[in-house]
Amino acid sequence: MARSRPMSRWTLFLSFVVLIACIVVPGVTVKHENFKTCQQSGFCKRNRALADNASAQGASWSSPYELDPATIHFKDGQLNGILIKTTSTHEKLRLPVTVSFLESGAARIIVDEEKRLKGDIEIRHDSKANKKRYDETEKWVIVGGLEVSKSATLNAQTETGFTNILYGPEDKFQAIIRHAPFEVEFQRDGETHVQINHQGLLNMEHWRPKVEHQEGESPEEEGTWWEESFGGNTDSKPRGPESVGLDVTFPGYNHVFGIPEHADSLSLRETRGGPGNHEQPYRLYNSDVFEYELNSPMTLYGAIPFMQAHRKDSTVGVFWLNAAETWIDIVKEAANSNPLSMSAHSKTNTKTHWFSEAGRIDLFVFLGPTPQDISKTYGQLTGYTQLPQHFAIAYHQCRWNYVTDEDVKEVDAKFDKYQIPYDVIWLDLEYTDDRKYFTWDPLTFPNPKGMQEKLDESERKLVVLIDPHIKNKDDYFVSQELKSKNLAVLNKDGEIYDGWCWPGSSNWVDCFNPASFPWWSSLHKFDKFKGSLSNLFIWNDMNEPSVFNGPETTMPKDNLHFGNWEHRDVHNVNGITLVNATYQAMLERKKGEVRRPFILTRSYYAGAQRMSAMWTGDNQATWEHLGASLPMVLTNGIAGFPFAGADVGGFFHNPDKDLLTRWYQAGIWYPFFRAHAHIDTRRREPYLISEPHRTIISQAIRLRYQLLPAWYTAFHEASVNGTPIVRPQYYVFPDNEAGFAIDDQLYLGATGLLAKPVVTEDTFTTTIYIADDEKYYDYFDFTVYQGAGKRHTVPAPEDKIPLLIQGGHIVPRRDRPRRSSALMRWDPYTLILTLNKKGEAEGSLYVDDGETFDYERGAYIHRQFQYSDSVLSSENLGTKGAKTAEYLKTMAGVTVERVVIIDPPKEWKDKSTVVIVEDGAKTGSTAVLEYYEQESGKASYAVVKSPNVGIGKTWRIEF
Ligand code: GLC
Repeated sequence: MARSRPMSRWTLFLSFVVLIACIVVPGVTVKHENFKTCQQSGFCKRNRALADNASAQGASWSSPYELDPATIHFKDGQLNGILIKTTSTHEKLRLPVTVSFLESGAARIIVDEEKRLKGDIEIRHDSKANKKRYDETEKWVIVGGLEVSKSATLNAQTETGFTNILYGPEDKFQAIIRHAPFEVEFQRDGETHVQINHQGLLNMEHWRPKVEHQEGESPEEEGTWWEESFGGNTDSKPRGPESVGLDVTFPGYNHVFGIPEHADSLSLRETRGGPGNHEQPYRLYNSDVFEYELNSPMTLYGAIPFMQAHRKDSTVGVFWLNAAETWIDIVKEAANSNPLSMSAHSKTNTKTHWFSEAGRIDLFVFLGPTPQDISKTYGQLTGYTQLPQHFAIAYHQCRWNYVTDEDVKEVDAKFDKYQIPYDVIWLDLEYTDDRKYFTWDPLTFPNPKGMQEKLDESERKLVVLIDPHIKNKDDYFVSQELKSKNLAVLNKDGEIYDGWCWPGSSNWVDCFNPASFPWWSSLHKFDKFKGSLSNLFIWNDMNEPSVFNGPETTMPKDNLHFGNWEHRDVHNVNGITLVNATYQAMLERKKGEVRRPFILTRSYYAGAQRMSAMWTGDNQATWEHLGASLPMVLTNGIAGFPFAGADVGGFFHNPDKDLLTRWYQAGIWYPFFRAHAHIDTRRREPYLISEPHRTIISQAIRLRYQLLPAWYTAFHEASVNGTPIVRPQYYVFPDNEAGFAIDDQLYLGATGLLAKPVVTEDTFTTTIYIADDEKYYDYFDFTVYQGAGKRHTVPAPEDKIPLLIQGGHIVPRRDRPRRSSALMRWDPYTLILTLNKKGEAEGSLYVDDGETFDYERGAYIHRQFQYSDSVLSSENLGTKGAKTAEYLKTMAGVTVERVVIIDPPKEWKDKSTVVIVEDGAKTGSTAVLEYYEQESGKASYAVVKSPNVGIGKTWRIEF
């Protein structure tokens, strides 16, 4: 045996440094070399060069696009015409343009290319690729709101060289379309809010034949037109250059929000360099980014090209409907260089520049004026958030992996033993037989049914992972069917594409093919997915798609999908096609058993909110990642996909107790609340953590359960009007400029609950920004905070979640701890009431069976609570349907067991009863009122004990 040499002092020191580095900085950062920068992406570089050229030329730059006046035709809310592009060689190209003015108040501009539309082009390499520009994104994304406004009219006052259209509510909106160069200015009440092609960056790379040059004589600009290589992969680009680009300016706007998914601040940064700014544009190209970095415009797993611009008292927005790789540059400039343009508003113009590798220009413009208007109109187009099953908004316990069915049962039992509620346990990859989806590992999961039955005893659910890559194995029935039914994605030569993912060699189901839907549904049926029961739901992961050996960890862009669309055309909607298929599959797994599906997706695009929840992928167990999760979740909310969360505890590495505890205290504010961990991490189920952390974590989870009635109500609101479930400061106080960039505190729905999770180490006090001069009360001890436009210092010892409630609200909750949320179904409610300056309060509650679609036929309770003139009342907000009476009957025994009034009028000290009048009763009954005096900055409170009014009934409590 060789004797080891004693370590030198130097080696010892080095080993020590390495060891400390491993402990202190567990996070390794992303491999930049695996992902393109703008300079490495041909079309990105070309579009940026165009912008640079335009800005270098200044006033002498003129966009080479003109709307031919002879072609303009306006009828029934729609303008059609031909844009003429003049090329550098003086060629004139025809680009059909449509501007539609929609009933909803949105406007839509579409520009296509005549030659490609007519198929009048040649494609290289004998490729079968579709000759048209991809025009089916809307098929996956848009579900309504496209009715054109018949009342939109041509404005008679228009000067020559312009076509002006009046539209929107009371004709308050106007689109001023300049013909040459083409530009559209959108006004509201006579003021310009959005300008299109104002900077002259409109670009549609027209089709052209490839000119063969002598060797070494290819013009530099053509370098990436016909072929593009990156990281050892070559993209054959059979259609040549075809990118589209457009600039959108928001004059007088200082903040823009949205365009997830990026690990960045809520208020987006500039992207053309300078202190605190990014150097790269925000990129949208759904990718599996290993160990992603923070404060970065790099692309992540999902893409929603929807942006809100905000300034005091005005919000506007744009939605760039394009599924190809997209980049967005943002530049802010002083608006006051022209003294005439100075207004009372922000003195900043935000200039944005959008460009995509392929497809059409398809842009929606929203003129607000409130953030709520924008959410609503955008939601009419792309759909509102699915009203999820109730269990889905409770706590989810996941890790990669629970290793056997016995392990699952043991975890389940431990939660009960330690009285920690949870609703869902998850199985990652390893439950399968050799990574073949729709199968179980026979050795580790011999009895999946028994496991699900056990979970069902406490009405808990199981979620299992089903990814879109199908193991390429002859004896695997799913692989056989995929091939025999021709449902796989093809490579550029038209053969089944083979790539590397979890199972090794794999093929991908092509959900662009309508025939894939019934097939995918069949796989989820109980007789095919043997061993699965009706309390099993689905996690669709790796659907960017992630391909370990593909360019930028995804599919080659020249792969072919159904309809001969290149992968390039459809990449960003690829993820939601799978979710769509899974949604259909889960709607009715057994004939007659129609229930709301629950699906978690990693990759997404606009519209995913109708079918799924998302999470922010593979984050890390660091304080910085904890902090980053809040703006990420908030951004998703304002981009219309609010059912969002991050892996609680961090996916990679092991959080220490403090970090884990703070993560739970923050995680209860994610609409999607799930703990998850990498296979190499230590077990960290909350019951395993030593005291006092175990209790602190349990209390956080219980707080989530206590507030589930308020959460479900917020989900309901999102499902009917698109408002985020957790809301950033600007959204709640759109006129308070100091709050616009705040992204580390959040409001739960319309409840007035304001949480400020602690996301930094060793922090035991924090500050909460309060915008208005209402009183705010500490949720737990009623300490009063008041003072508008300032930060208030709030204690935040480790066992406390900084949480305030604004005066003027009535918040419904349920106070009896149970094992799972379903077991709270018949529990009574408590109402928490805070008065505003006028001595009034309001709130609402939405309840239904949390499982079926019966709510669409009236099986729900929707109440408006109001307090004024010493009377608390509950009024019906619902409308009757075929199932209303039956549902109300099941809820007849569910009552309000307590009303807590924080900071009640002083006179109540002398009261001991209140009068209760329920629905149509002739005489009232009484209930006891108790008054609790408090001192030293804490508000007094009163409690109505056992009013026992029905939750589904109309009633009054007179104080
Ligand atoms: C991906 C997912 C992660 C999952 C893992 C194994 O990395 O993002 O959540 O645990 O795949 O399936």
